[in-house]
Amino acid sequence: MIRNGLKILRNFRPYSPRLPCSVWPPRPLQTGQGNARGLSAMFTARRSLLQLPARPELSKIVPKPPRGYQSVNWYSSQASREASLDTHVKIRSLSKDDSRRMVNVTWSDGTKQDYPFVWLLDNCFCTDCYHVESQCRLLPFDELDIDANPESVETVNHGDTLRVSWNRHHHSDFNSDWLRPNRFDQAEPRDDALSALPTPKLWGAEIAQSLPRFEFQEVLSDDWALLDFLKAFHEFGIVKLERTPAEPNQIPILAKRIGPMRETSFGLIQPLRKGGYEVEDLGQDRALSYTTKALNLHNDMSCLYETTCMAFFHCIIASDGKGGESIYSDGFHAAEMLRLADPRAFRLLSTNQQEFRLVGAEPHVGDFDHRSHHFPIMLDHFGQLKAIHYSTHARTPSLRMAVDDVKAMYSALQSFSKLLESPENAYYVKLQKGDMVVVNNHRVLHGRTPFEDSNERYLELGYVDWDHVTSRMRVLQNKLNSDKV
Ligand code: OGA
Ligand code: ZN
Repeated sequence: MIRNGLKILRNFRPYSPRLPCSVWPPRPLQTGQGNARGLSAMFTARRSLLQLPARPELSKIVPKPPRGYQSVNWYSSQASREASLDTHVKIRSLSKDDSRRMVNVTWSDGTKQDYPFVWLLDNCFCTDCYHVESQCRLLPFDELDIDANPESVETVNHGDTLRVSWNRHHHSDFNSDWLRPNRFDQAEPRDDALSALPTPKLWGAEIAQSLPRFEFQEVLSDDWALLDFLKAFHEFGIVKLERTPAEPNQIPILAKRIGPMRETSFGLIQPLRKGGYEVEDLGQDRALSYTTKALNLHNDMSCLYETTCMAFFHCIIASDGKGGESIYSDGFHAAEMLRLADPRAFRLLSTNQQEFRLVGAEPHVGDFDHRSHHFPIMLDHFGQLKAIHYSTHARTPSLRMAVDDVKAMYSALQSFSKLLESPENAYYVKLQKGDMVVVNNHRVLHGRTPFEDSNERYLELGYVDWDHVTSRMRVLQNKLNSDKV
């Protein structure tokens, strides 16, 4: 597998690393493993990731973690507590630009911003236009006056408020703290709580030394610990919770701190053990999960259009024999490597959909047959990675693409697969009872090695959707920051 993994790397374009190796020191070459040219090309390509100028939200994890990084609660709650609040900036001057139909604002720090008249009217907070309690607009959109031109604009409250007077009866007041962060030229939508988060970090197998770890009980009882856990999840897409009671039904206890769980055809909680739910008339081997076979790296539930996001793997009985190791690989890291190494392969995987399918039978839903189509590498409209859809066992023969490109598509998929599986990227760990690993199923692929044990390895699996993760982070950030002031 190693040799195959290296073959594609020969196609990596050479880069001259600008950053010192100490930022990402390549590990010493292991003798007898693959071919040295391939490895050094790989290291070169990995280092080159650091040079990407315009990818602010994806930066590399540094191999030497900062002090305290490996402690159980390595995310310092203190640091979160002390995160600075935005400094208050007032309006210095205003003008009304009738030709461009905008209000021009100069802020007290000298920066300038323009606000279109129509946008200001659309966002009026007066009680006719807006319902304060529910924070919702009231005005029917077809009544919005697109050509509105205010009679006057002025500052009130010593520069804290922009007042726009549309006519004698209708004024809109905009607080400078609200107005200033609203810009029209930014790539990311405004989201105060989330944009303050550390940028996601790409990782490889070295995550073994710096896996974010938390105490299960602490996350249950302390809001700061919960926020730090969610931030680490956002940043790395993988977090470990330790000292979870080694008994069933712990996932819903934790999930309740975040949001409602997402039920699938496997139930709210899927028992990952031989036979699954013990139901006599359903075959023991009805899902690969319920066998002792290997599960190659995959996303769960890629057979659904709305794939599950936060996936909790809770180990209740560890496998005691050979195998049964868990495997995790950062799909975003492999995708970025592929983008650099082989742009054509990256383009094929991000512009052609594949079909995923899962058929089965479970006690609470009976038979099911899920099918979906996804781009293996899904980008947002800025070209940034949004999600990975990868599952060899759930992929169907259906490919919706030009027949002449099919072989190239296979080759691209295999290049991606080799990057995911490469010893540099795949993190292997044998979970112990009481461990709970939480992964971002849109980003991090997981799997397991086949096993033989007498102990009846037993994990539970459950999900919470991404929207509940971000919602909880916003609520916690607002609550904890306002407690602080
Ligand atoms: C699964 C799965 C992991 C394991 O069933 O989808 O990823 O360790 N199982 O059994
Ligand atoms: Zn899985």
